Amino acid sequence: MERKLIDKILAEAPAEEPARQYFFADECRKIITEKENLKGRKLTCCINTFGCQMNAKDSEKLLGILKTIGYEESDSEQSDFVLYNTCTVRENANERVYGRLGVLKTYKKRNPDMITAVCGCMMQEKHVVETIKKSYRHVNLIFGTHNIYKLAELLFMYLAEDRNQTELLEGTDKIVENLPSERKFNYKSGVNIMFGCNNFCSYCIVPYVRGRERSRSPEEIISEVRRLSADGVTEIMLLGQNVNSYKADISFPQLLKQVSEVEGIRRVRFMTSHPKDLSDELIEVIRDNPSICRHVHLPLQSGSSRILKIMNRRYDKETYISLAEKIRREIPGVSITTDIIVGFPGETEEDFQETLDVVRKVRFDSAFTFIYSKRTGTKAAEMPDQVPKDIVDERFRRLLDLVTEISKEQTALYEGCTMEVMAEEVNSRDPSLISGRLSNNSIVHFKGSSDLIGSVINVHLDEAKGFYYYGTIAHDVSVS
Ligand code: SAH
Ligand code: SF4
Ligand code: F3S
Repeated sequence: MERKLIDKILAEAPAEEPARQYFFADECRKIITEKENLKGRKLTCCINTFGCQMNAKDSEKLLGILKTIGYEESDSEQSDFVLYNTCTVRENANERVYGRLGVLKTYKKRNPDMITAVCGCMMQEKHVVETIKKSYRHVNLIFGTHNIYKLAELLFMYLAEDRNQTELLEGTDKIVENLPSERKFNYKSGVNIMFGCNNFCSYCIVPYVRGRERSRSPEEIISEVRRLSADGVTEIMLLGQNVNSYKADISFPQLLKQVSEVEGIRRVRFMTSHPKDLSDELIEVIRDNPSICRHVHLPLQSGSSRILKIMNRRYDKETYISLAEKIRREIPGVSITTDIIVGFPGETEEDFQETLDVVRKVRFDSAFTFIYSKRTGTKAAEMPDQVPKDIVDERFRRLLDLVTEISKEQTALYEGCTMEVMAEEVNSRDPSLISGRLSNNSIVHFKGSSDLIGSVINVHLDEAKGFYYYGTIAHDVSVS
């Protein structure tokens, strides 16, 4: 495109968001339509998402923008537009992205018109961007976590100038609302209630790549939930790095209650709750509102009070155990799940034993276990006494064996019961089965048809199989 024309379009662009992005999406659509006419087919896009629920939610917004521009969604990375939304919480997440980028290069040789883009948490790290610019020159767009809403503008600049674009912001206090979004599931949706994190756990890169905490207003959240409900969504997952530090004119528990009262919403979940500030009010609100799921994800990280202190978690072993006991006492049927890190710098066998002790005492219904990964820029990366790999691997095995054994026993507790299951999807291995979830987050497979998806059904849990159940629809009880 000629410079004059680009400047004219830029001068016409509205300054305020999201109007500006809708304007650029229109401009992109004109260019994409021309390309479609030349190729005689629609252009396709593929987003590959790494990392957590926040990234999954961001990807829905990114897909919404790409579809507004005129791309058709595809699962294949041999598409006309391929975007990686990256995660950097552990080193192996980064390695996977570099591996995929190598593969993309060969696809791009076959389709030189292909546009490749990377965004998300990894891009907030300077050394990553340098590596990509140096060694992966086939990447056309680079942006971060604070400006995903600008995809249309960046793509327009790339198409218009025919030049790679990079835009990275160090931080933001902005929350851009009302962008288009394409949900992955019809019946359930994540809803951001806050962005960023202020906790600076000493091992964790998230506060550096996601910036400081920003909470959305309750009005924005509730109106998004109402819109989703009107669109057929029955399950909401409220998302934040630490939902307990949600700051607005109402507290997180009050927000949770209001969301659960929105018409049409059958289930509400939330992720993640930091143990340091999980309030009695939250426990009461879960207890008293049956549509709030009987599930608390409460990351432990370590059972050693000494290590927890160095991790900057701001709770100790005893307070964690008594909090878990209180949750189990107050909310019958609740499941408690967790995240645990093995091999934090300086972790001794005694520290590790404390972790095993908490696992035995709390009896987690399930646990994500991670090997400590050194993240450049965090406090822990500077700490001496990084634990040797063979010791960490051996501890990891022992921990995994214990959590697996306990979660099997926990799952077996409900064998033979009839419980409410949200029907989620047709089982990918056996299409005669529907896979769904209990309120406590356990998975149940049962014979049924796809028209059940999105509804809550009573299912008899015939057989507990480790982490999941085989069940049968209970015909003697009402179906909704
Ligand atoms: N905000 C959430 C966690 C988000 S990251 C919380 O505080 O609970 C998800 C999980 O990744 C963490 O709970 C932690 O167990 C793990 N994790 C984070 N940084 C890590 C690192 N450097 N090495 C290994 N695991 C890590
Ligand atoms: Fe990371 Fe801690 Fe923030 Fe969770 S609370 S995102 S572990 S710094
Ligand atoms: Fe990963 Fe970013 Fe989430 S680092 S875990 S995708 S916030």
